Amino acid sequence: MKYQDVIPEQAQNTILCTVNFKNDVDTNEVLEVFKDFCGRLHPTLNSMKIRFPFDNFKFVMGIGSNAWGRLFPNSEKPKDLKQFNDIKGKNKTAVSTDGDLFFHISADKMDVCYEMMLIIHKLLKNVIDSVDETHGFRFRDGRAIFGFVDGTENPDIEEAKEVVYIDNHEDPYFGGTYVMAQKYIFDLDLWDSLSVEKQELVVGRYKDTDLELSEDKKPSNAHTEISKAHDVLGEEVKIMRANIAFAEASKSIFGSYFLGYSKDFSITLQMLKHMFEGKDNNEYDSILDYFNPITGNLFFVPSFEQIDKIASGDIH
Ligand code: HEM
Repeated sequence: MKYQDVIPEQAQNTILCTVNFKNDVDTNEVLEVFKDFCGRLHPTLNSMKIRFPFDNFKFVMGIGSNAWGRLFPNSEKPKDLKQFNDIKGKNKTAVSTDGDLFFHISADKMDVCYEMMLIIHKLLKNVIDSVDETHGFRFRDGRAIFGFVDGTENPDIEEAKEVVYIDNHEDPYFGGTYVMAQKYIFDLDLWDSLSVEKQELVVGRYKDTDLELSEDKKPSNAHTEISKAHDVLGEEVKIMRANIAFAEASKSIFGSYFLGYSKDFSITLQMLKHMFEGKDNNEYDSILDYFNPITGNLFFVPSFEQIDKIASGDIH
């Protein structure tokens, strides 16, 4: 099984790109162009890794629910692939936005990310419209845009594979996964008006050392407390997360691009509901006083076997 590079490792640079297939182009034409793209993808990624062996190049492509319905009406949809619905929260809404294809491209050099975007442009430009393109960077020593280390409680590599890849052999999309992609705008000035101690209560970790606050100090609506998900037995369940920092400082635009990879979208959904709607005592995640989501969509990330089946027309 050849999986896509879905276990995010921090690279110096990232491009996150969401596109729609054009509505005014005939679906058969879109399909032919996309099949050609899928047929070229594996060799293209091999070529990128040959050309840029020292740049930590990684690539993921996800397919949205509407695109699946339009291009492959005769093939069963991946089980969890549905259009993400708004979650109306107590102070913010986790919005649902458009997206037929999603690209998560990372490398230590931005021009390597761009090189891949150039190939996407050359092969797909006649059939796609851009929804969003965000250029992100690794911030300081691996911190999210608000200055706290990101990824500490992520599963390690072996556990991550179990958490991320669909491992049920009965599932026709074995080896694929799902990614929830959400772009958040960050209120830097409001955040900076808080003391470090207050910020630490919002996150539930110490800013400098990244140590977790002890249970008696951590508020129940701290991000790292309220966002947790549990199975029916009450055991904590994890997904693979990343927050990519982005900014255009002269325009006062700051943000975090959240990515949640999981073989089971219900876990990510449970986390989102806890954050936006609150848990037990009805409080929402206090991180949402400083972050506002402006995009949100779920994508299925096929394995390379499945990408080859798209190319050959076996998924149709
Ligand atoms: C504005 C966007 C977000 C930022 C800046 C952010 C940042 C962070 C940081 C700094 C941590 C602590 C270090 C770590 O374990 O990674 C963390 C933990 C966590 N975040 Fe987020 N996060 C964001 C959105 C989300 C979303 C949308 C979800 C769920 C869908 C989520 C779920 C979690 C979980 C489950 C933990 C670990 C809790 C634990 O076990 O301690 N986060 N986040």
